[in-house]
Amino acid sequence: MTRTLTQLELLTELEPVAEQNLNRHLSIAKNWHPHDYVPWDQGRNFAEMGGIDWEPAQSQLSELAKAAMVTNLLTEDNLPSYHRLIAESFSQDGAWGTWVGRWTAEENRHGTVMRDYLVVTRGVDPVALEHARLVCMTAGVQHPTGVDDNGFLPGVAYVTFQELATRVSHRNTGRVCNDAVADRMLQRISADENLHMVFYRNLCGAAIDLAPDQALLAISAIIRNFQMPGAGMPNWRRNSVLMAKHGIYDLRQHLEEVITPVLRKWNIFERNDFGARGEQAREELGLFLEQLGKDVLKFEEQRDRALAREAHKRERQEA
Ligand SMILES: [Fe+2]
Ligand SMILES: [Fe+2]
Repeated sequence: MTRTLTQLELLTELEPVAEQNLNRHLSIAKNWHPHDYVPWDQGRNFAEMGGIDWEPAQSQLSELAKAAMVTNLLTEDNLPSYHRLIAESFSQDGAWGTWVGRWTAEENRHGTVMRDYLVVTRGVDPVALEHARLVCMTAGVQHPTGVDDNGFLPGVAYVTFQELATRVSHRNTGRVCNDAVADRMLQRISADENLHMVFYRNLCGAAIDLAPDQALLAISAIIRNFQMPGAGMPNWRRNSVLMAKHGIYDLRQHLEEVITPVLRKWNIFERNDFGARGEQAREELGLFLEQLGKDVLKFEEQRDRALAREAHKRERQEA
């Protein structure tokens, strides 16, 4: 049986891979500027400075677009919690420390540009948004990984899936905003999330090669307990249901666009370097994914029925 590696051994062994991927990231990451993505000419003063305060009629966004924008923005706002998670489960030294700092700096742009856009275009109530931010950041994200272990392996597995999930969510939010400016901004953010995902996916992949059983146990626990980072924020249930109902982030996307492609990239179901513990974890993971596939169908049946009921109700109201 293979020995379980300590946190320090994992980080030391994987530091060259972190350095290589950090350099790769720096060579391809685009140095974009939030101010280039905001339509400043649409802006005007609020009452405090002689203008008028926000009113619902000023927003061009649908209820769905508003819910998705706010959910995604509050998720970005919780960056300090995520910084803490990554800083604790990675190392502050060498390439690890540089990555954590750089990643945090890049992520901060996402919240900046989305808030500027929403305030300038009057897309949502800025007072309610600020209130939600305070509630959200005060609570912070306690155990985002869903597992009681703040080690490197669960941490890197979680952020791999989470970056990809936010990529999907931002990209699909852009599509429902019905505004080319918002779409361009959210595509830009999605491209960042994808590069972040690649870094974490490569590191987690190298960890599987290094300690296959140990890594798979962590990955499997993360997949089985996965929660979107927004869980627990104000109106989370209402907003996440709305987003799932309209294909911004639903169970099929979670399974087919987030979980499956990453597991395929790691060759989880084809590898032959697992020991007994790894084999068992793989079997359990396989069963879990099979069940998730069934849950997808069940969810979609319910969703189709609910959407049909709503359409029917609308028709009757219009008649
Ligand atoms: Fe982000
Ligand atoms: Fe990201």
